[in-house]
Amino acid sequence: MGTPASIRSVEPVSQADAEAWHEVVTASMAEDLPDVPPPPGAQAHARLTGPRLGTRLLTWFAYEDDGRGHSRAVGAATLCLFDRAGQEHLAEVELYVRPDARRRGTGTELLSAVVAAAVSAGRRSLIAEVPACTAAEFFCVRHGFRRALTLHHLLLPLSEVHRGWLDELTAAERPGYRAAEWNGTAPDALADACAAAKNAMNDMPTGDLDHGTVAWDAERLRAMAAVVTGRGDTLLTVAAVHGDGTGGGTGDGAAEIAGFTEVVIPGGTAARAQQYDTAVVPAHRGHGLGLWLKAQMLRRLHDEYPQVTEVETDNAADNTHMLAVNEQLGFRRLRTTYEYQLALTEREEPA
Ligand SMILES: CC(C)(COP(=O)(O)OP(=O)(O)OC[C@H]1O[C@@H](n2cnc3c(N)ncnc32)[C@H](O)[C@@H]1OP(=O)(O)O)[C@@H](O)C(=O)NCCC(=O)NCCS
Repeated sequence: MGTPASIRSVEPVSQADAEAWHEVVTASMAEDLPDVPPPPGAQAHARLTGPRLGTRLLTWFAYEDDGRGHSRAVGAATLCLFDRAGQEHLAEVELYVRPDARRRGTGTELLSAVVAAAVSAGRRSLIAEVPACTAAEFFCVRHGFRRALTLHHLLLPLSEVHRGWLDELTAAERPGYRAAEWNGTAPDALADACAAAKNAMNDMPTGDLDHGTVAWDAERLRAMAAVVTGRGDTLLTVAAVHGDGTGGGTGDGAAEIAGFTEVVIPGGTAARAQQYDTAVVPAHRGHGLGLWLKAQMLRRLHDEYPQVTEVETDNAADNTHMLAVNEQLGFRRLRTTYEYQLALTEREEPA
């Protein structure tokens, strides 16, 4: 069985480290989530070295010696530290142990290293997204995490969505609104309006999660698009523009964005697209814009990205409006995950 695992923090993450991480994650997911495709191996290095906008990522490995002088990575953990204003209290852990190395304390050792780093970075909350009814739930409860939010993951096979039906949904009159769409960064004339609409995401249901709020502006919006496209993904947006858009002769300058929906195609070529944010600004709710926008997006995928065969999304269990829109479009329940949260400030510091 070998000696106990040794935990090492890795900085910078090399290509070989990224391959080891990918191997651990793939073996772990095959055990707990056999129907979920593991993250693409080709993107592993970019994922570990190019974190999400306004975050830092720290990485640890657990190595075991097989007693014949060979060491192999049996576990891996990442800690995402959110540095953006409004979320500086927050950190998120992802932790995996190979199935053949579990129940020997390796997960616990990795978590200790992660918690120590989160505490020394001044964080008060550590969150972890955990698949329902798996070992990770027992592990989290054992380590004092509390369940804070239920997320339903949904999948829409595009072959089941009739193109004619999408035409009908998108052709329906929305007086006062017109659709705008783009790939990557928002057009300059709409960037401020789009950032204002992004702030509508701040009232998304987040259960008991200590999630904080993030203020968007045009600069942050451009930076977010740069991060997504920089790692090779395609970012598509469809927006509902309100107003005549003449802006007193300045094009879209006076237009307001009433709502938007974003989809990402991993690597630009993946068959499974990922839904990102969708929001309708409070003053424009109740006009069916959510369904209209998402139908526009599906039509766009159908026409312009025929290699995309399915779209995955997740919704908080109490986000009844978004769930209703998705069910109307044909999304089906895939699986459930929970956001678990550990209050770091309640932990007793060693004497
Ligand atoms: C969760 C996970 C990291 C635990 O790794 P591990 O090395 O087996 O964890 P440990 O050996 O340190 O377990 C610590 C305690 O957690 C609990 N626990 C862990 N797995 C359990 C299981 N399958 N059933 C019941 N309790 C379990 C036990 O209390 C255990 O202590 P014990 O073995 O003395 O009874 C591992 O199962 C895994 O990789 N799961 C898939 C990845 C995942 O979902 N990660 C999300 C969490 S961030």
